[in-house]
Amino acid sequence: MIAVTGSASGIGAAVVSALDGHEVVGVDLRDAEVCADLSTPGGRQRAIDEVLARGELEGLVLCAGVGPHTPDPMRIIEVNYWGAVALLDGLFPALRTAAVAVSSSASTMVRWADNPISRGEEASALASAGEYRGQLAYVWSKNALTVAVRQRVGAWGAAGVRLNTVAPGAVETPLLAGALTDPRYGDAIRNYQAPIARHGRPEEVAALIVYLLGPQASYIHGAQFSIDGGSDALMRPTEF
Ligand SMILES: NC(=O)c1ccc[n+]([C@@H]2O[C@H](COP(=O)([O-])OP(=O)(O)OC[C@H]3O[C@@H](n4cnc5c(N)ncnc54)[C@H](O)[C@@H]3O)[C@@H](O)[C@H]2O)c1
Repeated sequence: MIAVTGSASGIGAAVVSALDGHEVVGVDLRDAEVCADLSTPGGRQRAIDEVLARGELEGLVLCAGVGPHTPDPMRIIEVNYWGAVALLDGLFPALRTAAVAVSSSASTMVRWADNPISRGEEASALASAGEYRGQLAYVWSKNALTVAVRQRVGAWGAAGVRLNTVAPGAVETPLLAGALTDPRYGDAIRNYQAPIARHGRPEEVAALIVYLLGPQASYIHGAQFSIDGGSDALMRPTEF
């Protein structure tokens, strides 16, 4: 059995389709085998309990997330970071093979030492962050998620369970469509062109995730894969 959060839409739904033939348990706010709100501690615990009740997990894919245009910026951190980390840790005892967390190209836009989440100061930092607080919350949440994955590489490797992140650029999903309508970020997203001059498709990200779950990725652990049409290399040619 493979658990997929955010299974009802976008990249998560594409992962479910790509896992055709596998037993999948989807976790989402609605239209899923397990309906739970990962923005709250109670919702996260219910998701963990209901997935664990179904038995051992071959794989776990964490796609549930919200975009920078979400009205309450704390919700971005609650879902994208705390929601993902709670499920990683809560489902780890049942995991047998591998997990993949969907981070973002945004994860590299702040250093961990400058990320308020690293000091537990995200609420106060957001209170004074101004108009772009949603974008900051998104960047911080994804940076913290990638760090959380990398921090678990020893314990998970010792248990024989691989853990990696994928870092998409702009991918054609309802989340991107929402960000494009935001007056603060819409034009910047629309006007930016990746070296591969189009947006990604959910099934392209799903194909990478399914590869990372599978036996051909058996020595890949603790890695982050950019899937962004070349943007990371374009923006940061000397950073890797
Ligand atoms: N689309 C992009 O351009 C892009 C780029 C980089 C990273 N990502 C990341 O990819 C992941 C998937 O996003 P997507 O683009 O497919 O978006 P999407 O909006 O199509 O799907 C996100 C899913 O997460 C679910 N979700 C949101 N809040 C939830 C909550 N509180 N509890 C449970 N489920 C919740 C939604 O219901 C939805 O089904 C997200 O983590 C997102 O940050 C997306």
